Amino acid sequence: MSSTPTEVGSTSTPTPHIDPKGVEIAETILLPGDPLRAKFIAETYLDDVRCFNEVRNMLGFTGTYRGRPVSVMGTGMGIPSISLYSYELIHHFGVKNLIRVGTCGAMQENMELYDVVIAQGASTDSNYLQQFNLPGNWAPLSSYRLLEQAKRVADERGQRTHVGNVLSSDVFYGADPDAMGKWARMGILAVEMESAGLFANAAAAGVDALALFTVSDHIVTNAKTTPEERQKAFTGMIEIALELA
Ligand code: ADE
Repeated sequence: MSSTPTEVGSTSTPTPHIDPKGVEIAETILLPGDPLRAKFIAETYLDDVRCFNEVRNMLGFTGTYRGRPVSVMGTGMGIPSISLYSYELIHHFGVKNLIRVGTCGAMQENMELYDVVIAQGASTDSNYLQQFNLPGNWAPLSSYRLLEQAKRVADERGQRTHVGNVLSSDVFYGADPDAMGKWARMGILAVEMESAGLFANAAAAGVDALALFTVSDHIVTNAKTTPEERQKAFTGMIEIALELA
């Protein structure tokens, strides 16, 4: 994908939501929704860790993984939140590879708790994409380069994966009881709340984005994980994401 960085600033110039105070932000960043997950990932997996953001407690860290620089930062929940952080990371701090790592609700019967979903695309019920004023409906896709690498690493590790279209929904507590069924019948694998905004921002800027999820609940079977089980399953996915750095 061609890269068209615009207005990339310095790490001593704060944006409204990120103030790195001179700490570098790596070209590759992992983006969990929860800032405490970002802290956990940095403390567990990275060497030479430095905190680059504390604004609104949306913690961000830069370190190295197997000698390669990598950053990790929380995004908050929902498309508006991930979109403003990813925009600033791309346009002001020159980030080139943005990898969301999160959880999702599975929507297909052949899926099990703890499976990993790799988002090839992200459909959405959000209006975020309207701002691009396209003369039709645009399909937000992940980076094929990152997707292919993630799938290869997951296969090498024997990790069960599902690759396909996810739903980035603005609605967690929905009023329409069949909304998820309608999406599932169109082949959507799982629901989460951020990736379409991330993929749109990345595409508009000519950089690469991917989203990986651990299945934390199942919309059809109603199965759910416990927080402890989720933490354990989450680590397998993080290790795949870090291999992309
Ligand atoms: N993330 C994990 N499970 C989810 C669900 N059921 N809906 C939206 N986002 C999710």
